Amino acid sequence: MNIAADVIKNYTIVSQEDLLEKIYDNDYKLTNKYKQYMDIDNALNRKMVSFQANKSMPFYRWFKYKEGFSANLVNYYIYKQGIDNIKMILDPFAGSGATIFSASNLGLDSIGIELLPLGQKLIFSKNLLINNFLQSDFKRLIYWKDNKPWLFNNNIQNYNILKITKGAYPEETDELIKKYLFVINQENDKVKTILLMALICILERISYTRKDGQYLRWDQRSGRCINSIPFNKNEILNFNEAIIEKLNEIITDGTNDKSNYLFQDNRSKEKGEIKIIGGSCLLRLPEIHDNSMDLIITSPLYCNRYDYTRIYALELAMLGIDEYGLLNLRQEMLSCTVENREKDLLAINNSWNDVLYYVKNHPLLQSILEYLNFQRKEKLLNNNGIPRMIKGYFYEMACVIYEMFRVLQKNGTVVMVNDNVKYAGVSISVDLILSDIAQSVGFDINSISILPIGKGNSSQQMGIHGRESLRKCVYIWSKS
Ligand SMILES: C[S@@+](CC[C@H](N)C(=O)[O-])C[C@H]1O[C@@H](n2cnc3c(N)ncnc32)[C@H](O)[C@@H]1O
Repeated sequence: MNIAADVIKNYTIVSQEDLLEKIYDNDYKLTNKYKQYMDIDNALNRKMVSFQANKSMPFYRWFKYKEGFSANLVNYYIYKQGIDNIKMILDPFAGSGATIFSASNLGLDSIGIELLPLGQKLIFSKNLLINNFLQSDFKRLIYWKDNKPWLFNNNIQNYNILKITKGAYPEETDELIKKYLFVINQENDKVKTILLMALICILERISYTRKDGQYLRWDQRSGRCINSIPFNKNEILNFNEAIIEKLNEIITDGTNDKSNYLFQDNRSKEKGEIKIIGGSCLLRLPEIHDNSMDLIITSPLYCNRYDYTRIYALELAMLGIDEYGLLNLRQEMLSCTVENREKDLLAINNSWNDVLYYVKNHPLLQSILEYLNFQRKEKLLNNNGIPRMIKGYFYEMACVIYEMFRVLQKNGTVVMVNDNVKYAGVSISVDLILSDIAQSVGFDINSISILPIGKGNSSQQMGIHGRESLRKCVYIWSKS
């Protein structure tokens, strides 16, 4: 029996090493294929490629979409690609709209596709305020800020509570939110939209929760002991204070021409038009005409297990999403969590057949999947959904890449921000695999620009495999 166990053990060790060897070999070959395009771009820094630079920018500062990139990054690439050659810009993962608002600011028309109602709402509301808000509407906001009408009302309007948002606010705050929601109904639709957006923008700060990487962390004062280590988020803002501060920010940015970024660019006073399309880009991209876009600047979800439907659960619940709606959104999201089930991509669009065939036979990707499936069978993974998630991520991204190629004009360009990831001790060269898929559909790979300092691996991996620098890159692909 001991001998048999040894044989199995030895077989396991040899087999695992073989699989790892195969990955290293394939990764080496792919690195060699693309190393001429890989460079460290010192013009890029973490501040520019993350939301950080937006934190103090009028309009952008209202809602901290932590996973976003900066308006400066978008401007940088629009100018780098040659603004005079660009008419229409697309972002299929629009988030809170950095790409489309920056494009509009430079006089370019743009389309954003966004799955989550949160991003859709933020974009819709900001666009409304920028383009359709009248002096009289601003006066109503000022009235709200100065007079706090919710305090003089005893009626309430309830909002959705999800299992994962139950008990998110102190009792007094919960009561004030409900009163506020009731009173905003007395305003015209435009003012009501902005008042609701202001509420959405403060939910995290008035709640017991904090968005912390992959999780919504709960403060110990909530009584929800989800984390074993007690967590204290420090100050939880009082509702009145928080909403007044937010309204003040919105009024200041909206009425002060000098601080209003939309009027700062001298090149064109004419703003570009913004169109936001709700839904999954896997469904919405195929509806866009061939050769209709000049530039795509985007950042998809990273393959890092961040579940936006959990991170943004407070905001989604406030926007009326129920349990069923939340599950649907989670499934429709680009696969990047272990809960995502496989999507039937050919049923969505059978013209993806060739690109899917390419990924099914992609040496590096398939060797990674083989290794991870082996690890799963050996019960070595901390979650069995990891191989399915990684497969889903690349297969779905392959279809998105195919569509991006199709909708771009000749000479059109894709600028994509993404991070490499690491699972079960293996660094996955997301940059090389996606670029290889892009090349297979016809793109020229212009560059894979690496941020000067790599990024550490995901928090779950840190304990077991230590810290290793993972590339954070901006890929530039063009359709020649
Ligand atoms: C990294 S964020 C983009 C942030 C954006 N660049 C910004 O600066 O605000 C990725 C976005 O893709 C959205 N998303 C995820 N799956 C999607 C899908 N299938 N279709 C469209 N959007 C999706 C997420 O909700 C998220 O807002």
